[in-house]
Amino acid sequence: MADKEILMEVKDLVTRFYTEDGVVKALEGVNFAVYKGETFALVGETGCGKSVTSLSILRLLPVSGKTLRGEVLFHDAESKKRIGIKKEGPFDILKLTSKQALRMRGFSMSLITQDPMTSLNPVYTVGDQIMEVLQLHKKLSDKQAKKEALQLLEDVELTPAEDIFRKYPHQLSGGQRQRIVIVISLAAEPALIFADEPTTALDVTIQARVLELLREMKEEFNTSLVLITHNLGIVAEVSDRIGVMYAGRVVEIADKYTMFKRPLHPYTQGLIAAVPKITEKKDTLSFIAGTVPNLIRPPSGCRFHPRCPYATDICKEKIPSMEEVEPDHFVECWNVDEVIKDLEKEECE
Ligand SMILES: Nc1ncnc2c1ncn2[C@@H]1O[C@H](COP(=O)(O)OP(=O)(O)OP(=O)(O)O)[C@@H](O)[C@H]1O
Ligand code: SF4
Ligand SMILES: [Mg+2]
Repeated sequence: MADKEILMEVKDLVTRFYTEDGVVKALEGVNFAVYKGETFALVGETGCGKSVTSLSILRLLPVSGKTLRGEVLFHDAESKKRIGIKKEGPFDILKLTSKQALRMRGFSMSLITQDPMTSLNPVYTVGDQIMEVLQLHKKLSDKQAKKEALQLLEDVELTPAEDIFRKYPHQLSGGQRQRIVIVISLAAEPALIFADEPTTALDVTIQARVLELLREMKEEFNTSLVLITHNLGIVAEVSDRIGVMYAGRVVEIADKYTMFKRPLHPYTQGLIAAVPKITEKKDTLSFIAGTVPNLIRPPSGCRFHPRCPYATDICKEKIPSMEEVEPDHFVECWNVDEVIKDLEKEECE
């Protein structure tokens, strides 16, 4: 990846929620980077902090949530121009004023969620909503904006485009609405899109098509995508690199081929082994015993230690830091050497 250009560096992000039951230590030092034009998948079991990571970066946490520490460095000259930042070099998203953060979300980043209705305005036609974004960003005349909107609808196979253009969100199916959200998100030509379970609510055949469209459109605009999903099948299909999250930290990062072929963090190994393979007999299916801990009282040290077959004393005391174990393969584990030894033994057998 040495020739790739970095778009965003997330460093040591710490986010908490203050609830009646106590303080939820949702993110405990999250680190990862996203390159320009790539699809970076964030995976992990429910409650690991995937959505909170995106909401912290987008500065969209609810009032009970607060990012206490960290940096999100954004390297994009066009975004700086759009937000109105004059300073040299990358800027820290967490240090933007609320007004600048609002501009950033309008002009440089967008979020696609599981429920497209939350991103669409029920009282305007989808045509008006697409045109509004186009006119805001490209200063087009009504006629030009309409022409471009119709073309975008055709690009995502919403035809006849003239009919769809005049419809209100409630007159469309879930899959059609999600395609509209994709069009609107990309019409602003943002540098980065977060897609948090974008197809989970759709049926399987439509899921595949929506993902393909997202990928095609993203390539056309050279946008980077952070894709959040439980579905490792989708990840294998569309991502370039993967970050695995566990209980508030990213514990392993690698390109997708390495991650599926040679996972080195014990948690990733369990996660990948748990994916049913059509070719395997049922009795070979394994899973990770236990569940993601309650983050009000997370385990000390490496938060995975109560579930980890490799755990030793140090794991209970100190959080391991992320090391580049092999080129472009980052792992956060005290006993990664043992894991590698076991893999070598398996290869010899
Ligand atoms: N508004 C909130 N108030 C309190 N705790 C929250 C809030 N939102 C998230 N959390 C907690 O933060 C942690 C991370 O949650 P998050 O929603 O990021 O998980 P996730 O990885 O996106 O899970 P899923 O795959 O189910 O979407 C969890 O312990 C969750 O309970
Ligand atoms: S640091 Fe220890 S507990 Fe955590 S994954 Fe590695 S071996 Fe397991
Ligand atoms: Mg989530």
